[in-house]
Amino acid sequence: MITTDIEKLLHAAIGMNAESVSGSGIQFALKQRMAATHLTEPAAYWRLVTGSRHELQELINAVVIPETWFFRDREAFAALARHARANRRPGQHIRILSLPCSTGEEPYSAAMAMFDAGFAASDFHIEGIDVSTRNIAEAEQAVYGRNSFRGEDLAFRARFCEQVPGGYRPVATVLRQVTFRAANLFDVTATAPSELYDVVFCRNLLIYFDRTRQERALAHLRAILAPGGMLLVGPAESSLPGLCGFVSARMPMAFAFLKQEAETTPRPTLPPAPKVKPQRVLRPATPSPTRPTSRLSAASARPETTADLMRSSLAAIERAANAGQLDEAKAAAGQHIDRFGPAAEVYYLLGLAHDAGKEPDRAIENYRKTLYLAPDHRETLAHLALLLQRQGDLDGAKVLSARLARLEKRSRVP
Ligand SMILES: C[S@@+](CC[C@H](N)C(=O)[O-])C[C@H]1O[C@@H](n2cnc3c(N)ncnc32)[C@H](O)[C@@H]1O
Repeated sequence: MITTDIEKLLHAAIGMNAESVSGSGIQFALKQRMAATHLTEPAAYWRLVTGSRHELQELINAVVIPETWFFRDREAFAALARHARANRRPGQHIRILSLPCSTGEEPYSAAMAMFDAGFAASDFHIEGIDVSTRNIAEAEQAVYGRNSFRGEDLAFRARFCEQVPGGYRPVATVLRQVTFRAANLFDVTATAPSELYDVVFCRNLLIYFDRTRQERALAHLRAILAPGGMLLVGPAESSLPGLCGFVSARMPMAFAFLKQEAETTPRPTLPPAPKVKPQRVLRPATPSPTRPTSRLSAASARPETTADLMRSSLAAIERAANAGQLDEAKAAAGQHIDRFGPAAEVYYLLGLAHDAGKEPDRAIENYRKTLYLAPDHRETLAHLALLLQRQGDLDGAKVLSARLARLEKRSRVP
């Protein structure tokens, strides 16, 4: 009973949709807080949390998912640099927001990307906002362990970080570019800027909201963006901005959108939010090493190698899936297999398209093909586990979740 009440409380406070996180996540946080407050009776904890802002904040800190790392989805940061360069005006100060910034890796990556793009410290400023006071404290402390550095290309770390006890810290020039504060996205006063932002990163948050909250969040983000400003969302969220007054920035794999100026088109309603948390839906399994920014225009340039052709073919499948054109995505995937042969990534995208199209058997079949070709494909393990769970195959889901947990653990071992 108390769990349901807590779910409602969290939904009202921060928009968290209980269906987007595992029920056990909320139960775990609840147990943690009851132990920390030395309360054994759920009713007593309920009285405490509903009467104390401090305890509500502690519960929020315990329940949110802070998962993040430096340069998560590299193309998003390349898109930031490209947008900032293309829209540069003499004397203009570029304002960037990372909301939610979690423990700070995202806004610090944005600062590094801006420096790499040739901007001076005086050209831009970044704000990091997150509802978790614990995450904000960690962001300000800015000491990062191995888990914050994923993927193969870590050249940025040597250039922008220094070793300190406990890990790495961005150098002072990077730290100075970012300021942090704790605030709730739905507190429109607390998150209202003194000046509109040019770029907003709102990545991997909308997936935790239901449809109504997604719409509210996007309306607010639109309101705090300057005309022509850019919004970056997470891969699993890329179907949402197009329905809420944004247009695609046409930057493959960046999940970038521009604020649409004219309000002439009637705004369609979002389809219902998925019942389960889609995890990094359209992110490639093996992040490619850093690509030069000029790669962003590769979609329009004539591809030269088979690898280029394959990449742009996969990007086309992904674009169709992102736009909700599932039949087109499936057809393009079939053509991709005919042309280039079977590959894990294309079966993964096919799995996603069938999953989104409510064809669980076909989705399972394609996810299994992906795992046959790439047994450690994490996104597929996560999606297939969720799908099997939905289908009632709890043992199958458990086996895959355990495999995923082992992989995650391995990647965290220092
Ligand atoms: C998965 S992290 C995403 C971090 C980063 N944007 C990224 O993509 O790597 C989600 C973050 O959203 C924050 N969050 C959840 N609800 C929020 C809300 N209503 N307002 C602001 N931040 C929120 C959580 O505290 C958590 O740090």
